[in-house]
Amino acid sequence: MYKIVTKKGLAPKIKLFEVYAPEIAEKAKPGQFIILIIDEKGERIPLTIAGYDTKKGTVTFVFNEVGKTTKHLGFLKEGDCIGSITGPLGNPSEIRDFGKVLCVAGGVMIAPMLLQVQALREAGNTVATIIGARIKELLFFEEKMKALSHKLYVATDDGSKGYKGLGFLKEILEKERFDRCITMGPVVMMKNVCEITKPFGIPTIVTLTPIMVDGMGMCGVCRVTVGGETKFACIDGPEFDGHFVDFEELIKRQRLFLPEERLSSLLWEKLGGGGFGRK
Ligand SMILES: Cc1cc2nc3c(=O)[nH]c(=O)nc-3n(C[C@H](O)[C@H](O)[C@H](O)COP(=O)(O)OP(=O)(O)OC[C@H]3O[C@@H](n4cnc5c(N)ncnc54)[C@H](O)[C@@H]3O)c2cc1C
Ligand code: FES
Repeated sequence: MYKIVTKKGLAPKIKLFEVYAPEIAEKAKPGQFIILIIDEKGERIPLTIAGYDTKKGTVTFVFNEVGKTTKHLGFLKEGDCIGSITGPLGNPSEIRDFGKVLCVAGGVMIAPMLLQVQALREAGNTVATIIGARIKELLFFEEKMKALSHKLYVATDDGSKGYKGLGFLKEILEKERFDRCITMGPVVMMKNVCEITKPFGIPTIVTLTPIMVDGMGMCGVCRVTVGGETKFACIDGPEFDGHFVDFEELIKRQRLFLPEERLSSLLWEKLGGGGFGRK
């Protein structure tokens, strides 16, 4: 059992959990993920590692309450336990001195990007970061990201804070040369970032989040197409060269179970979740 030692609300429906899991904390690296199961009836959900502390023996992740399991997770309190956590899974990010790196993070993935920015800085890079969300209320870690980055840009889809949309990225690239771009966030956002960076010839690394089951390369559910080849995001990734990713296929595959997911979320709220764990 994995005890929740810290629970924090970062933004509406976005929560941070720090969980006691010393064996995972010991091995975790930026870019890797865990798969958790809340209890014996729970499903497996992958979440990116957003922090680890080997002294405290804890691992941190941040999640968005989008469906049945993440809503259930959001009900848990400090001191509660999560049934199972497997990890660290996936390959660590390639961290070395690339020179000038542009990090673009959207939504809940701002949290694991903080870990990447920290590691990139420690490796000697100059880092400019863009954080974005749909609306200003969904932004978080702005101060932390500002403290770690040489330069921070903020953007929202509706323009309620910072730049409106990602159009300004092209203007930045016209003025400044970057050696690498790293982007984490909604698939559509990563696809847009890749389309903007491609003409500038900037290698762009994306974190792919297809539906996963085992996370160990055995079920094949997480397959993605990169450069015309089938890859398993869990063992070959989750990071890939974004200029070669078939994003359209990924978007289609992510939506495969949408009706079932909606029903399951609704049923959980109406039948079980409404009462579960509420005090
Ligand atoms: C490597 C990886 C890292 C991820 N990191 C984070 C993270 O740090 N924070 C975060 O909030 N979310 C992250 N996700 C997405 C997260 O796993 C899904 O939001 C979660 O599984 C949704 O489960 P649900 O029951 O709440 O919602 P559901 O209603 O079941 O699903 C909502 C949507 O989430 C996606 N999803 C559903 N089941 C899975 C699954 N087993 N694997 C992957 N995606 C699924 C689908 O696109 C689906 O349409 C990550 C996914 C992957 C693959
Ligand atoms: S999740 Fe099963 S092969 Fe990747």
